[in-house]
Amino acid sequence: MPYFSTEHICIYVEFKNRFIVIGEKKLYLETYGCQMNFSDSEIVGAILKENNYCLIDNVNEADLILINTCSIRENAEQRIRKRLRELKSLKKKNPELMIGILGCMAERLKEQLLEEQKEVDLIAGPDSYRDLPNLIGSVGGGQKAANVMLSTEETYADITPVKYGGNKVSAFISIMRGCENFCAYCVVPYTRGKERSRNPKTIIQEAQDLFDNGYREITLLGQNVNSYRFDMDEKQMNFPQLLEAVAKVSPLLRVRFATSHPKDLSDELIQVMARNENICKHIHLPAQSGSSSMLKRMNRKYSREWYLGRVNEIKKHMPECSLTTDLIAGFCGETEDEHKETLSLMKEVGYSAAFMFKYSMRPNTYAHKKMQDDISEEDKGKRLQEIINLQGKLSDVYNQSFIGKTVEVLVEKKSKRSDKDLCGRNSQNIMVVFPDNGAKAGDYVKVKIESCSPATLKGQAI
Ligand code: 5AD
Ligand code: SF4
Repeated sequence: MPYFSTEHICIYVEFKNRFIVIGEKKLYLETYGCQMNFSDSEIVGAILKENNYCLIDNVNEADLILINTCSIRENAEQRIRKRLRELKSLKKKNPELMIGILGCMAERLKEQLLEEQKEVDLIAGPDSYRDLPNLIGSVGGGQKAANVMLSTEETYADITPVKYGGNKVSAFISIMRGCENFCAYCVVPYTRGKERSRNPKTIIQEAQDLFDNGYREITLLGQNVNSYRFDMDEKQMNFPQLLEAVAKVSPLLRVRFATSHPKDLSDELIQVMARNENICKHIHLPAQSGSSSMLKRMNRKYSREWYLGRVNEIKKHMPECSLTTDLIAGFCGETEDEHKETLSLMKEVGYSAAFMFKYSMRPNTYAHKKMQDDISEEDKGKRLQEIINLQGKLSDVYNQSFIGKTVEVLVEKKSKRSDKDLCGRNSQNIMVVFPDNGAKAGDYVKVKIESCSPATLKGQAI
């Protein structure tokens, strides 16, 4: 139903439960890759909303398509190139349509991307989203636009992200940007630039606002949250202090974080987690390999013994804490023995879940310049499969340990499989499914676990 708003002197129409200002341009925003990219897309959404764009979810109606991209592995980039080939046909139908590439692929390939992909009109790196309105304005008449400048200061601290999609219960807050660890295989330091931390006042305020708007779970995001540091009022705030300050917003607000570099995981962090019930008992602690010699080649700056020492400290103070990890199979020079050490580390830690990858050489990284990508595809595949098979068993053992126990679940939504069931996560980040007991999204429900599958726990509300 159209209506006239005297306040804004604009005409609004209802479109898919949203009011759109007539004259607004339609933005279709698609995101690939890590949680950080999804969080960045919310910032892009906010910047463009201020500039007369509304977000739509039908790509065919778009005036502007933006794709926020990932470069972490070769296949992530291939996926985006494939998507661009699909979008080409839309451009033929609507020559006014503008297509932009954001994020890591734009930063990595720079103007080369505009030459290779003729359908792309603009590129913007992760630190140049404020410039998007200008870039869009300068596209036209065959003119393309690019900004891939990296910044040492940009944190988008003053921008309130637009929450679109999602479950309205859990949200991400980006607390820092960039990475300076230069792991030998990783492209991130080159695509996301120098590490910088966001003003904690703006982080705590964003957490408070989300809580006031009904959100009940916040994940603090950064490439290495443990090196968060912000100088303020002659004091320095570190990550454990920030985490505790966010947890104090409300006991009803769950707080999570990702990702932790093992070399920087402090005793102070473990203590803060242990003493705040609403900080979830889950740590994502990417090991990458279980072999000290391999970790050295990877430039991870810790050994297997250091990693296991951190794990023991976590388990000592929080026996209920789950651990997840990232693992790479077949990095340069990996011997069969080094691979076996990864398998033995997995067993020793008993991960609840893992993200597991075949090594993919990335141009311009240290490994690309100085090392040989000498493990055959076949061996990489075989080792990865062994890792995946073992993790399947470990996840099963881990999930079985909940049977007969009662866990607290933050309800997110109806279960995908059946609308008679609800689902949500426990503190350890395991998905729990249980028959609908009338609870609403954002409620906490105690569930007694009766059975499990590799990825979920099942039980009854009590
Ligand atoms: N090849 C394979 N996996 C990689 N990762 C990062 N770079 C590469 C690469 N070149 C993995 C690491 C990291 C996760 C986000 O992606 O495990 O923790
Ligand atoms: Fe990449 Fe290492 Fe930085 Fe993680 S810590 S983003 S793996 S360079």
